[in-house]
Amino acid sequence: LWTPAKIIEDQVARVRDQVGDRHVLLGLSGGVDSSVVAALLHRAIGDQLTCVFVDNGLLRKNEGQQVMETFAKHMGVKVIRVDAEPLFLDKLEGQADPEAKRKIIGNTFIEVFDEEASKIEGVDFLAQGTIYPDVIESAASKTGKAHVIKSHHNVGGLPETMKLKLVEPLRELFKDEVRKLGVELGLPYDMVYRHPFPGPGLGVRILGEVKKEYADILREADAIFIEELHNADWYHKTSQAFAVFLPVKSVGVVGDGRRYEWVIALRAVETIDFMTARWAHLPYELLETVSNRIINEISGVSRVTYDVSSKPPATIEWE
Ligand code: XMP
Repeated sequence: LWTPAKIIEDQVARVRDQVGDRHVLLGLSGGVDSSVVAALLHRAIGDQLTCVFVDNGLLRKNEGQQVMETFAKHMGVKVIRVDAEPLFLDKLEGQADPEAKRKIIGNTFIEVFDEEASKIEGVDFLAQGTIYPDVIESAASKTGKAHVIKSHHNVGGLPETMKLKLVEPLRELFKDEVRKLGVELGLPYDMVYRHPFPGPGLGVRILGEVKKEYADILREADAIFIEELHNADWYHKTSQAFAVFLPVKSVGVVGDGRRYEWVIALRAVETIDFMTARWAHLPYELLETVSNRIINEISGVSRVTYDVSSKPPATIEWE
């Protein structure tokens, strides 16, 4: 009989058996899969697990803090947080092409992760949140994948330099099963039932060149949108929802003056498989609240639009 408790018990035993008294390293992204692996491995091997959490400066508002609170503070998991924002922003300077940005973000992640890993002594295993669909899909696919480490280290094997054996306790599980394990392991419901977030993060939600100013504005706008979706009980009726930063200036009238300021687009979709998607028919009142709050609370934004494009042809992300 399949129950989350039984799977956890089996996997805990398997991991202990595989790892013995050796040390395991995990790239923790805050996404569902790596979070569940962290909780599971912590239960299995406690202090023999070290997690590395890379803050690339392209995370959502308070995301880094939430990861540290959940894992380090509440659960007592060993987590090393690397503040790599300056490095990522520096590498992204002047880069406007979406695929080039994805590559830079992915490669920089690997670089930072490998450097952190090399500082930790006696590590023999690398844990990953590979789930069953990752195993059957090609490593190149990008359906809702939470972290670049997967596409790089996953399934295809590790880079030559990293002579680590893999621990992949979710390899036989589907997403909904992984979520149930997460709840059973005591992870916060909101973390386990969160919308997917792309590995390159806000890097592909800031169109064109990424700048700190843009990322800061986008973080605020996105947080307002998500908060209001929760307030209106719409968050879980959408599959993915987020704000996008458009680097164009549009006019707004404030007092007697005309101001030329940035535009924020809102995207919310309903989908089963993320291959096709329908834009979510959010209530006008909700859109109005979000728009008013974004324009009033964030300086530098004068206009908010709602994306009413279906996939295909429009992808869910704007880049
Ligand atoms: P699109 O935009 O292709 O998105 O309709 C489908 C799903 O994939 C996510 N996505 C990504 N995930 N790295 C990721 O890890 C990426 O480069 C990437 N691009 C898109 C997107 O958020 C959606 O869930």
